[in-house]
This record gives sequence, C-alpha cells and structure tokens, in this order.
Amino acid sequence: MKNIVILISGRGSNMEAIVRAFRQEKWSARLCAVISNRADAAGLVFAAEAGIPTQVVSHKDYADREAYDAALQAVIDTYEPDLVILAGFMRILTTGFVEHYTGRMINIHPSLLPSFRGLHTHRQAIEAGVRVHGATVHFVTPELDGGPVIAQAVVPVLPGDDEDTLADRVLAQEHRLYPRVVRWITEDKVSYTGEGKVVLADDIAGSLDFVVKGGGL
Ligand code: GAR
Repeated sequence: MKNIVILISGRGSNMEAIVRAFRQEKWSARLCAVISNRADAAGLVFAAEAGIPTQVVSHKDYADREAYDAALQAVIDTYEPDLVILAGFMRILTTGFVEHYTGRMINIHPSLLPSFRGLHTHRQAIEAGVRVHGATVHFVTPELDGGPVIAQAVVPVLPGDDEDTLADRVLAQEHRLYPRVVRWITEDKVSYTGEGKVVLADDIAGSLDFVVKGGGL
C-alpha cells in the first residue's frame, strides 16, 4: 500500500478532488498528510476536516530555497512517501529536492504541455489563438514544467472565452484527470523509467484513457 503526501499552496481544489475519489472509490493507499508552504492556504481547512494530518512549512522561515527545500524534504520524509503530489504547490523547487523524489513526484499543470509552461497559461492559450487547451499530469524533473507526461485533459477554446471562463473549463477537467492518474499509480499502472519516460499499463494505453475529453469536445 503506497504512502501519499500532498503539497498545496492555496485553494486546494485538486487535493480535494483526490481526497474525495480516494474515499469514494476506496483506494488501497494511505493519505498521510497535506503540507502547505502557506498557513492561510484554504485547502488546509478541508484536509483537516477530512481527518488528514496537515502541516505548514512556511518558506518565510528560511533564508533561501536550499534551506527551505531541505526542511520541507525532512518533513515529507517522516511519512516515508511512495508518492508526492504537487497540487497547486506554487514554488520553484531546487534540483536536489526534485532528484530526491525522482519517479515519486507528480504535478498538474494547467496547459497541454509542452505548450504554455510557467504562469498565466490560460492567457497564453488565448493569446496564441489555439483551439484546444487543457491540463497535464507529469512526473516532476528539474526542468520547470518539463517532466514526462502521464496523461492530459483536453477542452475546446470557445469564441468569447476569457481567462476566467477558460480556467473554469480546464479546472473541471483537472478534477477528473488528477484523481484518475493518482489511482493508476496506487495500482502500479504507471511507471517511470530510468530514461525519464513513462510507461502505462496496457489497459490504459490501449484505450486512450490517458486523454480526458471534456467541456464539449
Ligand atoms: C490548478 O489549476 C493547477 O493546475 C495550477 O494551480 C491551480 C491550483 O488550484 N498549478 C500550476 O499552475 C502549477 N504550475 P487548486 O489549488 O484549486 O488545486
């Protein structure tokens, strides 16, 4: 049974979707802790009410990124995690931290990577004039938003969309995509090879389940 630790910085709606699916579908895994770098992260309230241990490791208490990541790593490792889930954890991570969790740390990014890395992804998509947009779950590597893709959710960009309407459409699909991928990992259906590639079990890869279509596609 895998030990899971979730990192958040704010609202935590993806964390919430994962916790709800975990409970409803009775996954064989342990949700060990939800950790935030911000004490005021709204998601901490939901996690605590759901009975999951919560912890705050504030970046403001450390002099630099290296010191912060070392402290965060020490806290995470008390749970002996098999999987570390970044769910809106808005920190740039040091290479040492990322490499410590190679093949054990995943992230959700609100674009169809490798398009639109970084911030303001919905604005970037509208400005680029693309017709489809979405979200990506990927293993985390030292390259920001550059790790190998596990699965994606695709939505249309509709005439008249602004950043908010597009963000809402993508977020609804993030909430379908992320729990699905985490469940696959708990079932050993996703593996990370030493060459930085992802291998999916035949029942996922063969059915195109790794692409979630939503919002009118
Ligand atoms: C989500 O849209 C997630 O994809 C994004 O932050 C939001 C967090 O929302 N993550 C990134 O931009 C990471 N680069 P949530 O706190 O409600 O899950």
